[in-house]
Amino acid sequence: MTASISSQVISNQTQPYEKLADVLQRHQAIPFQKPIADFNQQAFELAQTQLNAHGGPFILDSCCGVGQSTRLLAERFPNHLVIGVDRSADRLARNLGGLPANACLIRADLVDFWRLAVAAGWRPEQHFLLYPNPSPKKKDFKRRWHGHPVFNYLVALGGRLECRTNWQLYVVEMQQALQLMGVAASLQQLAEIEQPLTPFERKYAKSGHDLWQLTAQLN
Ligand SMILES: C[S@@+](CC[C@H](N)C(=O)[O-])C[C@H]1O[C@@H](n2cnc3c(N)ncnc32)[C@H](O)[C@@H]1O
Repeated sequence: MTASISSQVISNQTQPYEKLADVLQRHQAIPFQKPIADFNQQAFELAQTQLNAHGGPFILDSCCGVGQSTRLLAERFPNHLVIGVDRSADRLARNLGGLPANACLIRADLVDFWRLAVAAGWRPEQHFLLYPNPSPKKKDFKRRWHGHPVFNYLVALGGRLECRTNWQLYVVEMQQALQLMGVAASLQQLAEIEQPLTPFERKYAKSGHDLWQLTAQLN
């Protein structure tokens, strides 16, 4: 992926979505019953096989794109299995720089994958969510992870969550959503990026965007 100059996120929202608490409450009250697609079930089984073979601690790299962060995290945490998940076959196929033995890339929709992982009792030590699609139009709030019914499952998975974005409001809202669920999260602006974890991080940093990080320990 080229590090072309990227424009800032433009949104018709300047404040956290005002119905965030209502949406969250609704998602907690009504079970999320969308059927699991076969291809996600198969992808999950593949990931489970890798996890069983590893038999040790693991890290989830959700929305991993081309898998650069999956590779870098696997190098940084050699005793962990790092599982990168993305729904884009095209991005995953680029597999820049190959993968170490303690990493794997899985093509799946996280809306199903996270639910299967919760049902199977998965407990990642860390969960990275690096530059998820911001869906900045107010009407698209429900496409943001914290505005989606599957957010409950992301939280239920546990582990240390780290979400990065170039749109501050995204993590401000996520922090509010977590707070409403009884989870304290902290926000910080990332200092100068020396080694970008992902192509989007490289592109945004090169374009002079402010980059933001949310971290939370999910119990
Ligand atoms: C903006 S890209 C960021 C990719 C990578 N993390 C990076 O920073 O370079 C967002 C990624 O989220 C993935 N994605 C969005 N919704 C998804 C879903 N429901 N399930 C799996 N992947 C999803 C997209 O395919 C895309 O690769």
